Amino acid sequence: MKKIVINGGHPLKGEVTISGAKNSVVALIPATILADDIVTLDGVPDISDVASLIEIMTIMGAKIERKEDSLIIDPRGVKNMPMPFGKINSLRASYYFYGSLLGRYGQATVGLPGGCDLGPRPIDLHLKAFEAMGAAMTMDGSSMKLATDGKPLQGANIYMDTVSVGATINTILAAVKAEGRTVIENAAREPEIVDLALLLNKMGANVKGAGTETLTIVGVESLHGANHNVVQDRIEAGTFMIGAAMTGGDVLIEDAIWEHNRPLLSKMQEMGVTVTEEENGIRIQSDISKLRPVTVKTLPYPGFPTDMQAQFTALMAMAKGESTMIETVFENRFQHLEEMRRMGVHSDIMRDTARIVGGESFQGAEVMSTDLRASATLVLMGLVAEGETKVSKLSHLDRGYYQFHEKLVALGADVKRVEEEDDEN
Ligand code: EPU
Repeated sequence: MKKIVINGGHPLKGEVTISGAKNSVVALIPATILADDIVTLDGVPDISDVASLIEIMTIMGAKIERKEDSLIIDPRGVKNMPMPFGKINSLRASYYFYGSLLGRYGQATVGLPGGCDLGPRPIDLHLKAFEAMGAAMTMDGSSMKLATDGKPLQGANIYMDTVSVGATINTILAAVKAEGRTVIENAAREPEIVDLALLLNKMGANVKGAGTETLTIVGVESLHGANHNVVQDRIEAGTFMIGAAMTGGDVLIEDAIWEHNRPLLSKMQEMGVTVTEEENGIRIQSDISKLRPVTVKTLPYPGFPTDMQAQFTALMAMAKGESTMIETVFENRFQHLEEMRRMGVHSDIMRDTARIVGGESFQGAEVMSTDLRASATLVLMGLVAEGETKVSKLSHLDRGYYQFHEKLVALGADVKRVEEEDDEN
């Protein structure tokens, strides 16, 4: 069993380089299936979600080569074959193969997606959009088959009942080569959607309005090869910002994009953290004795990101007094608070609202990651706890953070990764 072992008490100091965004690259890789030539993606983090996608695409017939942080993808050999369980089930983003295979072949048979357990994660909006474009869904064993009745996919007007990153991306993927115009209203506006539209437009697609509530996609006959640099991971950047603030540190998050982290930075400032925009990034400095409690509500972008909720509760635990976190995006995303309680964090949860009473000291403990962002949060808690903290179930962390503990060590933390024999599954 691999574990991260942290000895608390060392403020983070220095500069940290942030990788390409996980939630962007997991859409960009399946998108390359739509191209008739080689697509090169630069700044691709070597995380396990990416490794899983490479494995799936290779089984489908793509040729993929990694050169340092670039992926050179030749999708020309991709066959439309059923993609059942197994690897597909290991990550949420495997559902982007629905959109890209539908876009390329007019049909797709793919196992049901996996991903973090954050409560129910329906895909009704994805299916509604595909149906509006002329693809019907049937179950084929444990896989879902989507197919048109032989006609090409048709552009359609689609209103998303809920703002959904996944459904917006899947609809774009299906629409770029469909016949006619697709309009998506109440679309997600995340930087990862903008990044996908950028790549697709470089490949010759016609996607307009990315980053706004209304997206218009006019279908094109074919897409060619392209080169694209993946957008910076705003959640990884945010995680290091929180680490700096929690430890009373002084860290420059290199090339961090203010606009992508606006609500997070505002809330940190409201707590008393010093946030400075510098020429080559954003500097975070804090004096933990001066941190103030706040109330935060997660919302779709440009609101406060649910993917920073767990990490922010750890910062709240550092501020003397009562803070409130309201989680409106996912139903079951407070599991990290249970583990944090083992380290001495006082919190209670009432439906979508957690109350965190901060300002106490914390003790190192053996804790277990419950999902991707929870895993990073528990490591951050270890940085401020007295004594030794051991975080297990690192498979969650490895899905989305590239060289997390190495980056912390470079910032002065006492963190190591060990292999220990024990009874944890
Ligand atoms: N929803 C529906 N029906 C649908 C789709 C979504 O009701 O058909 C609901 C969800 O249940 C949820 C809300 O809409 O309540 C938003 O879900 P969304 O579809 O936006 O989430 P997602 O696409 O499944 C992506 C990220 C998540 C991130 C969310 C929200 C990827 C691979 N995953 O998930 O990332 O939390 O958007 O921003 O991009 C993470 O990185 O830790 C992570 C979980």
